[in-house]
Amino acid sequence: MLSVQNLKVSIGEVQILKGIDMEVPSGELHAIMGPNGSGKSTFCHAVMGNPDYEQSGSIQIGDTDISKLPQYERSSAGIFQSFQYPVGLPGVTLNEYVNEINPGLSNDEILELSRKFNVEQFLSRDVNVDLSGGEKKRSELFQLAIKKPKVALLDEIDSGLDIDAIKSVSGLINENRNEDTSYILVTHYSRILKYLNVDQVHIVVQGNVIKSGGEELIEEVDSNGYTQYQE
Ligand SMILES: Nc1ncnc2c1ncn2[C@@H]1O[C@H](COP(=O)(O)OP(=O)(O)OP(=O)(O)O)[C@@H](O)[C@H]1O
Ligand SMILES: [Mg+2]
Repeated sequence: MLSVQNLKVSIGEVQILKGIDMEVPSGELHAIMGPNGSGKSTFCHAVMGNPDYEQSGSIQIGDTDISKLPQYERSSAGIFQSFQYPVGLPGVTLNEYVNEINPGLSNDEILELSRKFNVEQFLSRDVNVDLSGGEKKRSELFQLAIKKPKVALLDEIDSGLDIDAIKSVSGLINENRNEDTSYILVTHYSRILKYLNVDQVHIVVQGNVIKSGGEELIEEVDSNGYTQYQE
């Protein structure tokens, strides 16, 4: 269970998040939707512990408050973040990287998972270097499956994907969905959500969750956009 209470984030003089509350029970998948610049990525970075942020509020995984921990300790506590813009790691192969993420897995287990995500051919290449947009997203989901985290933050896992890739990426999310993981998926579009079993939708506008609800909110956003929440 991920439990976030009254999360506020300032960068310099500007307050970006203004007191976000969110509870995602283990096994559930919550979607965060909202207009550009509303603070969705900032929320993900803040839960992961971006050191550039001044942040307050509590972030708990189960009974453990991780809000004062540095990024790497939050990672050890079980948070995985997939970036909106995955960063390349020149000099580190994907195989070396996933061995660091979960040293407990054997080479055979890694190979089997890599085939499932169709990233076997990238294992010997540097992480996210010279991969296409869709290939990077598959690689991120492979890393997620390797880590088996308690909390998965998937920021625009559907951005830049063609329609078939959206289907295949959502299929990979569905097949690998784990009862011990709380999922947060940030997206602008209903397309990917139609293929996933979404438990709750949260609409973030100007650093606040201004509405939460079930799948009916996806339809509401699709029909009327975000301006309906901004008036
Ligand atoms: N390091 C930073 N310094 C200054 N402002 C920042 C910084 N990071 C984010 N912001 C600002 O915070 C606001 C929220 O940005 P964020 O990336 O969280 O939006 P978002 O909801 O993810 O948008 P998008 O849908 O376009 O990805 C924006 O106005 C952005 O310019
Ligand atoms: Mg973003």
